[in-house]
Amino acid sequence: MYPHLYPLAILAASAAATPVFDQKLLGPAYPAPSNLAAAAVRAAAANVSAALDRALGSGQSPFGNFTAKATSLSLTAVSALDDAAAPIFDFHYTGAGLNTSAGSTAKVTADSVYRIGSVSKLFTVYSFLLNGGAKYWDRPVTDFIPELRRAAALPGAGNAVDRVQWQDVTVGALASQLSGIGRDYNNADMASMGFPWQEAGLPPLSPDEIPTCAGNTSQPPCSRKEYFEGFIKRHPVLPPYTAPVYSNAAYRILSYVVEAITGSSYDAVLARDVLQPLGLKQTSTSSPRGSGVGVIPPGDSGWGRPLGDEVSSTGGLYSSSHDLATFGRALLTGKKLGALATRRWMKPLSHTASASAAVGAPWEITRTRSRVTGGYAVDLYTKSGSDGQYNSLLILMPDFQVAVALLAAGPHAGPVLEAAVETALQALLPVLDTASQSQACQAFCGRYAPADAAANSSLVLAVDDKGPGLLVTQWISRGADVRGAAQAYADATDGGVIESIRLYPTGLRAPGEAAFRAILQTLPVGYDASVPRIMDPGVHQWSAVDQLMYGEVAVDDFVFRLDGQGRAVAVEPRVLRQTFEKVGGSN
Ligand SMILES: *[C@@H]1O[C@H](CO)[C@@H](O)[C@H](O)[C@H]1NC(C)=O
Ligand SMILES: *[C@@H]1O[C@H](CO)[C@@H](O)[C@H](O)[C@H]1NC(C)=O
Ligand SMILES: *[C@@H]1O[C@H](CO)[C@@H](O)[C@H](O)[C@H]1NC(C)=O
Ligand SMILES: *[C@@H]1O[C@H](CO)[C@@H](O)[C@H](O)[C@H]1NC(C)=O
Ligand SMILES: *[C@@H]1O[C@H](CO)[C@@H](O)[C@H](O)[C@H]1NC(C)=O
Repeated sequence: MYPHLYPLAILAASAAATPVFDQKLLGPAYPAPSNLAAAAVRAAAANVSAALDRALGSGQSPFGNFTAKATSLSLTAVSALDDAAAPIFDFHYTGAGLNTSAGSTAKVTADSVYRIGSVSKLFTVYSFLLNGGAKYWDRPVTDFIPELRRAAALPGAGNAVDRVQWQDVTVGALASQLSGIGRDYNNADMASMGFPWQEAGLPPLSPDEIPTCAGNTSQPPCSRKEYFEGFIKRHPVLPPYTAPVYSNAAYRILSYVVEAITGSSYDAVLARDVLQPLGLKQTSTSSPRGSGVGVIPPGDSGWGRPLGDEVSSTGGLYSSSHDLATFGRALLTGKKLGALATRRWMKPLSHTASASAAVGAPWEITRTRSRVTGGYAVDLYTKSGSDGQYNSLLILMPDFQVAVALLAAGPHAGPVLEAAVETALQALLPVLDTASQSQACQAFCGRYAPADAAANSSLVLAVDDKGPGLLVTQWISRGADVRGAAQAYADATDGGVIESIRLYPTGLRAPGEAAFRAILQTLPVGYDASVPRIMDPGVHQWSAVDQLMYGEVAVDDFVFRLDGQGRAVAVEPRVLRQTFEKVGGSN
């Protein structure tokens, strides 16, 4: 509607070191960016591609070294707001010596198929949620699994040091790594791995203690009967809901719960509810037929190893980076599950012992920052996997509505994947932040005033490099400086010093309208950052939202009116009962 001149602050923001900023609500600093195939992201992607090519070809990266040229890699990143067919970043590297006589492709593309290992757990929980999982969440697993119901009634079952208390293990605890049960049954048991256990001082075992199924790659998977007969003898790790402890067994059991509540096999549920509706043509529970499809490194890759009922948990599915990115996009957009259930799902359910890692169902949540070492907190919802020579990672960034799928195959798939993740994310995060900031400014920055010029009211919004959100640089109402009035109120109520007022999107939208809230960045009077504190005074913004009201309307409540392109044409600071029209670009 009005010409928008681009504030130079944006260019400065990307260059300058950005301070750590926590005084906002959890979630996006700006509306998620779109058109990410645009120039800035393309330039960063070209940079990342060149860096990855160099690293994979030379075997050297700042994040670790590995055998040169030996490992294949696929990386596909998509935005949920952009055309599904146009990834914002797509990189593929063909490792040396792929086993074409075993059916491997000779050239890796976005449609090349890898084993995805434990990323499969995400498909299991998604299938569970799509089949009413939320309403079974707090039910004990013994309601669904007769083997475990019987185990809970065996002599000695009440001894909590020896036996899992199955009646206390809920289905939700299984889905969120909070069950406290053991990690596996037999999988890679040293007794069947040719490990020199007697030299290591381990006692001899009786024959019935040595796995006969799933102990090593030459043994068949365990049947359901063998599995439960064996697994119920394994010791618990923690009481349920104590702390997250990674368990593959939990998801195998969860897949049996899915079968119990649907009356169908896991494979059929997955095909019907996930693979077909989302169009995941390269994703399957068994190794794909035909040659030229898979990425099969030389040697013992683990490509064709059957995993039986472990498909849902440990070794799992086959998929391509294109399909995994498409799956990630579907999760971000709430396709099938719906936006509400997706928001509930994409939350942490437990801390870990580290402040930067949390666990969901079965999200492995990493907290980083928009500028990696500075800026505002960005939570990455990830799921990792490894199986044989395959390593995988799916990363969802809800704040930017971006999904990144990484798949690696080869002798150093783990270190290669780690190097690729760091190389890609450290370049992409700042670019996504800058793109969000500049798009938000294009849509919202500028001067707003009521049509009645005599009112002497105005609001000016900009962006800066000191913090996220839309910075309120001027707010005058009926001749009064609102920030000054807010400071006077804060002075009278020990509210501290207002450093800035910033607007953040709430996600509440109606046709032609978007709601934002103003968050005050404050410091206590006389604040000394060098004095150690346990209770950080700068982390309470979430508790002050919607607090101050005037006639039942909060002073932080802002609604923008948008044109067809999503650009603001007016804003209503609702406490003023007045609409401010957009009257100019930023000043
Ligand atoms: C590309 O990489 C070079 C060298 O690492 C760096 O100086 C430049 O800023 C990068 N450009 C983008 C757009 O990321
Ligand atoms: C990787 O290799 C280079 C060159 O040999 C060496 O300088 C560097 O220290 C190695 N890095 C790591 C993490 O091992
Ligand atoms: C697997 O374990 C069985 C039983 O201990 C053993 O006979 C076999 O050699 C093992 N195979 C491999 C590949 O280690
Ligand atoms: C390729 O795969 C075949 C069949 O699985 C196997 O016999 C052969 O040893 C593999 N070749 C290499 C170089 O690993
Ligand atoms: C409008 O209000 C501001 C802030 O109180 C004041 O500085 C300015 O003089 C006022 N302008 C007019 C025309 O009254």
